[in-house]
Amino acid sequence: MSHIVTMIPGDGVGPEIIEVAKACIAETGVDVQWDVQPAGMSAQQSRGALLPRQVIDSIRENRVALKGPLETPIGSGYRSVNVQLRKDLNLYACVRPCRYYPGIQTRIADPEAIDLVIIRENMEDMYTGIEFMEECGAETPLIDFLKQQQQGADLECDTGFSIKPISRRGSERVARFAFEYARAYGRKRISAVDKANIMKYSDGVFMRAAEKISADYPDIEFEHKLVDNMCMQLVQKPEQYEVLVMPNLYGDILSDLCAGLIGGLGVAPGANMGDSYAVFEPVHGTAPKYAGADRANPTAILLSSVLMLHHINESAAAQRLEKAVAAVIKEGIHVTRDLKSPDAAGQPTGTQAMGGAVRDKIQSL
Ligand code: NAI
Repeated sequence: MSHIVTMIPGDGVGPEIIEVAKACIAETGVDVQWDVQPAGMSAQQSRGALLPRQVIDSIRENRVALKGPLETPIGSGYRSVNVQLRKDLNLYACVRPCRYYPGIQTRIADPEAIDLVIIRENMEDMYTGIEFMEECGAETPLIDFLKQQQQGADLECDTGFSIKPISRRGSERVARFAFEYARAYGRKRISAVDKANIMKYSDGVFMRAAEKISADYPDIEFEHKLVDNMCMQLVQKPEQYEVLVMPNLYGDILSDLCAGLIGGLGVAPGANMGDSYAVFEPVHGTAPKYAGADRANPTAILLSSVLMLHHINESAAAQRLEKAVAAVIKEGIHVTRDLKSPDAAGQPTGTQAMGGAVRDKIQSL
């Protein structure tokens, strides 16, 4: 069967890793026609927009996309193209499996016991872009309003604000997604993570929504954890967790923490899911210092491709690709610098050469 999939090469190391993914998927024998759609800085240059209409139209038509990372300037400049894409396509759940592949160097005593999945709410929270700049001008309407409404909110005019909206509907939706995911993948336990002791009116909504939805799934054990405690638990006993569901910001941060447990951002895959569309992409960003240098680890995009192949019902190809990636990592010869053990023989390989080793392995499996 032939599949048409939207491909967004992305910025920074994006085009290099996506080339590897494309070649490795072709090697599995699955017939994928790629509808290549630039977004981000490359689209700004070629089409005059960071997120051209054609990108959204293409994903709406094909329903599936494989995406490289997109740049978002820090502290100022345009708002995130990633956030806009998720919003336009209603991709409300971000799924980030965290699994260790033998051969990778980590600081964890028993990394093979780690097998958890983060489900991050993907559309609300601090990512809605409702922000107010600090401004000591003649009028400070928000500060005046808060002074009237909130006891003790005596804020200076040099204060900036980022608003954190969390809705019952959005929280119930992602919580239900997490429970359905747990059932579908035979997971027995869900931990809802938030900071509802302090943010009673935003994280409190999330916590109550998760508790409410848990009542519909008596076959799955449910627990609630505060995010600060969860950070410590994940570092000390990551093997105790199966599925973690949480608001957007905590999901963003804990995804990187979990990537750190299993060997770094170079090996952490992800998927943005909604009811109609799915966009698969690594957890990592554009890694600007490696852009064009053939240095980026292609594992994260390859494991994202594995998730994508399962999603389009090409599970045999997905398994072959995953086995090939795992075998190359285990051998530790044709791997990028971040995976190279100090005592392993030979020099680290580049992005494309590691992709070549995975292709060879697919053939020999
Ligand atoms: P980053 O993920 O690009 O890099 C963080 C660290 O991880 C760096 O040390 C980098 O060298 C390393 N790293 C990342 N990917 C790697 C790979 N494939 N192989 C080996 N090492 C890798 O995060 P950073 O520097 O915070 O962000 C850079 C840009 O990426 C920003 O503009 C940010 O907004 C964007 N970004 C985009 C994302 C997306 O499109 N989904 C996700 C995260 C960040």
